Amino acid sequence: MSDGGKYRLRRYGQFRFSADTGRLTHIPGTSYFQSVEVNPLNGGKSRQFASLTADTVESRFLHELIRFDFAQLTGQKHLEDNGLIGVHQIQTLATSGIPGNPTPEGIHRDDEIYTSERLIARHNIDGGINYFYGSAAKPTTCPQTVWKQESYFDSYYFDRTLWHEVSPIVSGSDGGVGFFDLGMAIVGACREGSGIAFEKAKQLLLGYQKVITLRSIERETLKTFAVYAATATSFWRFRQYHLRRPEPRLYDQHVEMQSLADTISEYPDSCFMELFTEVTAPCSETEPSA
Ligand SMILES: [Fe+2]
Repeated sequence: MSDGGKYRLRRYGQFRFSADTGRLTHIPGTSYFQSVEVNPLNGGKSRQFASLTADTVESRFLHELIRFDFAQLTGQKHLEDNGLIGVHQIQTLATSGIPGNPTPEGIHRDDEIYTSERLIARHNIDGGINYFYGSAAKPTTCPQTVWKQESYFDSYYFDRTLWHEVSPIVSGSDGGVGFFDLGMAIVGACREGSGIAFEKAKQLLLGYQKVITLRSIERETLKTFAVYAATATSFWRFRQYHLRRPEPRLYDQHVEMQSLADTISEYPDSCFMELFTEVTAPCSETEPSA
């Protein structure tokens, strides 16, 4: 990684695909290129990743999966025959105290006509929440959709117009499984001005609990984990922009998250507990109480 990180491991391979016959032909020894516009961090050069293993290249399951995805994605649009299919196997690591970042380039668009993405496994980590910012010329200020891939093969499709990013992951032993994610979701999706938009957070939690009911300990520690999420993001930004990939114009980026952590700390605990009541949270959207 250009930021000096070793937290993302990858294998990469290419196939040529005949839409007419369904035939896949592996192209050995290919490198991967992205423009600087698409990936300011790692773009502008050919990158050589470890090759797919022979088992993967020949996997009937993989071949059927590519054919399946192609059928889903191209139903409305004809693509050139014998196009290229890129297969990325990516593992992002987080060790105790050192987060990993699935999308170190931040909010971005992929320069592929279509992408299908699948979760294989999460082990002892938290974070890794997908944020989607629409398909307009610029990303929306707030995410339009927030989603965490949790189960084997949780999948999504998107095209090259979609703005997206994934939040950093932390070691589960740092954060406590399940707790950090909600804190990160609130920090990522419900920030407004210098504080938290509690009505947004309330709606997020209402939606979340239609699927998963939070335990009392999770409700009681939500504020703490929101502080932790802002602090972890501040740490990541400082390390990224001062140490790993010094970028003077971004030197102050961590301060925003540091201030947010302080602001959340100062909110009364009741602001967070009232997120779980039917009554609209009375806490100020930006001004914490003493
Ligand atoms: Fe991407």
